[in-house]
Amino acid sequence: DKGNHRHFMEKEIHEQPETISHTLSHYLDFTEGRARREALPFDFAKLDRIAISACGTAYLAGLVSKYWFERYARLPVDIDIASEFRYREMPMPKASAAFFVSQSGETADTLASLRYCRSQGIPIGAIVNVQESTIAREADGIFPTLAGPEIGVASTKAFTSQLSVLAALAVRAGSERGTISAEDEKRMVRELSEAPRYVRQALKLEEQIEKVARKLSQFRHVLYLGRDTSYPLAMEGALKLKEISYIHAEGYAAGELKHGPIALIDRDMPVIVIAPHDRIYDKTVSNMQEVAARGGKIILITDQEGARRSSIDTFETIIMPDVPEIIAPIVYALPIQMLAYFTAVFMGTDVDQPRNLAKSVTVE
Ligand code: M6R
Repeated sequence: DKGNHRHFMEKEIHEQPETISHTLSHYLDFTEGRARREALPFDFAKLDRIAISACGTAYLAGLVSKYWFERYARLPVDIDIASEFRYREMPMPKASAAFFVSQSGETADTLASLRYCRSQGIPIGAIVNVQESTIAREADGIFPTLAGPEIGVASTKAFTSQLSVLAALAVRAGSERGTISAEDEKRMVRELSEAPRYVRQALKLEEQIEKVARKLSQFRHVLYLGRDTSYPLAMEGALKLKEISYIHAEGYAAGELKHGPIALIDRDMPVIVIAPHDRIYDKTVSNMQEVAARGGKIILITDQEGARRSSIDTFETIIMPDVPEIIAPIVYALPIQMLAYFTAVFMGTDVDQPRNLAKSVTVE
């Protein structure tokens, strides 16, 4: 049932304040300010590395978490697209664990990657939305994303719930490895608990984003740029846009711009820059300047401080609430989902059932 919504995707975008809050409270104790310590099939303190493997949007959630695990828990992460990982014959060190991220829990390549890790004898965690799925059944530990059934082919609420689980696990890993203090843990848990409120604020930008989407729907190609955790988000924005609006889009690490894609920049190329005012904001601004100097149309998604500090003439600026670093990827997922959604609506495509795609890819 779509309720008052035109599409399941729109409904699922709007459910996110509740789904994120539900997921986070399963993994975090907000009263104590601690990550819950449910039994795990491995000990974070004893791991040398973790491997994460997944497809599509689930892969991009995993890629965001690489930054978190490495930064907060000092735990190196090898992250791979499952269709590559399964044939790569990666040596798995003894002190490692593998995580597989999947909404459906049935994705063929992700399952095959899981079985490869099983053959290597390392512990396996499954971050899945469907708890009765094959991937869940074959794992040693199940980490449910608790987003509820996702009907739209484009993954939205499953993505932010995957991010929520992974952020909570990164905080727990940091605490158990002694790389964050009890005080840091408390603060990070509090910051995560605020995510649903900020997501609700982001949803209020709907009208503005619809207007931006109307403009975006006039173009044939779109480039998305971001650094740090905004880099996987840039790729997620591009994936979402091409999947449902059929507009060609690419997501790039902003620093890669001058290694090729800058050749594409002209007046017909909108460039969506995802740039909360964070530790590398100024670097992203200098990439934006390069785009502006070549006539590229910049759509900047930032916060008050970010907007204040950039003197670049943008095509559009979307001002987000000012959020703590750890929740930025969760909150910034909203404008990119809405942008893709409204663009697809303007294009008149079948938003919930885009051509050539299946919700769950159970064949190779
Ligand atoms: O069910 P899974 O999470 O394993 O599916 C993985 C991808 O097929 C999926 O995320 C796909 O990329 C989405 N349609 C993107 O919106």
